[in-house]
Amino acid sequence: MSTKGIRDFRPELHFTPKSGWINDPNGLVYADGKYHLFAQYYPEPQWGPMHWYHATSTDLIHWEHLPVALEPDELGFIFSGSAVYDKDNTSGFGKDGKAPIIAMYTSHLNLDNSGLAKEQQSIAYSLDGVHFTKYEGNPVLPSDRKDFRDPKVFRNPFKDCWSVVLAAGDHVEFYASQDLKHWEKTGEFGPEGNYSQGVWECPDLFPLVVNGEEKWVLLLSMGGNEENHGARTQYFTGSFDGNSFTCDGQFTQPEFIDAGFDNYAGVTFFGTQERLLVGWACNWVYAHKTPTGEYCCQMTIPRAVKLIDTPKGGLRLAWEPKDSTVFGGTESFDGTLYSEVFKLTVTGSGAAAVTLSNDKGQSFVFGVDDENRAYIDRAKGGANDFDENFARDWYSQIAEPRFYDDEWEIEFIFDHSITEMFIDYGTRAFTSTVYPDTPYNKVTVSGNAEVKLHSLS
Ligand code: FRU
Repeated sequence: MSTKGIRDFRPELHFTPKSGWINDPNGLVYADGKYHLFAQYYPEPQWGPMHWYHATSTDLIHWEHLPVALEPDELGFIFSGSAVYDKDNTSGFGKDGKAPIIAMYTSHLNLDNSGLAKEQQSIAYSLDGVHFTKYEGNPVLPSDRKDFRDPKVFRNPFKDCWSVVLAAGDHVEFYASQDLKHWEKTGEFGPEGNYSQGVWECPDLFPLVVNGEEKWVLLLSMGGNEENHGARTQYFTGSFDGNSFTCDGQFTQPEFIDAGFDNYAGVTFFGTQERLLVGWACNWVYAHKTPTGEYCCQMTIPRAVKLIDTPKGGLRLAWEPKDSTVFGGTESFDGTLYSEVFKLTVTGSGAAAVTLSNDKGQSFVFGVDDENRAYIDRAKGGANDFDENFARDWYSQIAEPRFYDDEWEIEFIFDHSITEMFIDYGTRAFTSTVYPDTPYNKVTVSGNAEVKLHSLS
């Protein structure tokens, strides 16, 4: 029996579509005082011919739902991509002094029913930030390739032009353009230097400053990857010379932006001061069976990203959720929870565990173990009979070594059916769904730790 829709699991802080299915965040762009979020979308709560969903926000928590931005056409489904604000009208799509938002996406054409496909890149523009017109010269990057997708456009400071990074099977490719319509290849990265299995998807490339030095970070989602729990986004640090990325060889094993089970295909916004990422907070292995009824899947809370020089792990990406408009200071707290949305701060040293439990005896556990690893365990957290993989320990329990010793602080956000945990200044993040049959209403602690509850403001 399907348990889809057994109770209302819809999160409040995490973005969900009004109804239907979403996967990857697309076209993240800040323009005219608004954050635009697009997403891979199908009107039924299951994957299908892809559209782009669209919503805007001024605070990254409250979203206004807008009409679907892009629908499938004769070039195919509208697969993942990005958007930029073309303030100098380099594309010529601007009009009457109004600068356009330009979306670049993959046109995915199925050639038969056996998975044979051709993927090319197309663009569309908008002058009002709501309605998009596809360029009549599409595709702007024609190809016959099956895996050639997810263009992420960025401003190239070395050549004063646009650049795009695209996933091409087992490597990424870079192209440059002056007008977003004509593209020329400038370089490649991979497969050398990669330590993870899976098809390369959803790349992103951006600079961050650490210790006064600029480093470029390449994000890559590794598709269809059982070895790495199904949904993992890898990252590399290195340099960009305006043509291609060179990895600095800091890592000798795959390093991921999130250790949880539900953060995939994350990319960052164009046009913000702070570098902000949104990820798809679900996992391809079981997403389509999750018991949420009329909608399927959600996004992570947008997170700021930094590079931190850690005592035990060298340079590491660190994440900070942008939830400050929702949670205020700490309130006195006797271990009882009255809401299905809450944030806990846990300070501890050595091993300690925090257990959230409900009246059905279901519990979600997180903390630090006696090998100084941060961990989460959702194995007994709630309903898991909707999918055989979700029910496996492989998709329920995970522990990762910390990059720090001794004292620690965990920030833990719970939102109906999705958890986000950050430890050690966000240098370890764990994002995971869980579907308790009744709300968690109790917090218990073992070991040397103290829990504080934040008030909802
Ligand atoms: C990643 C992905 C992308 C593709 C999209 C299709 O999750 O497979 O590579 O563009 O989803 O929906």
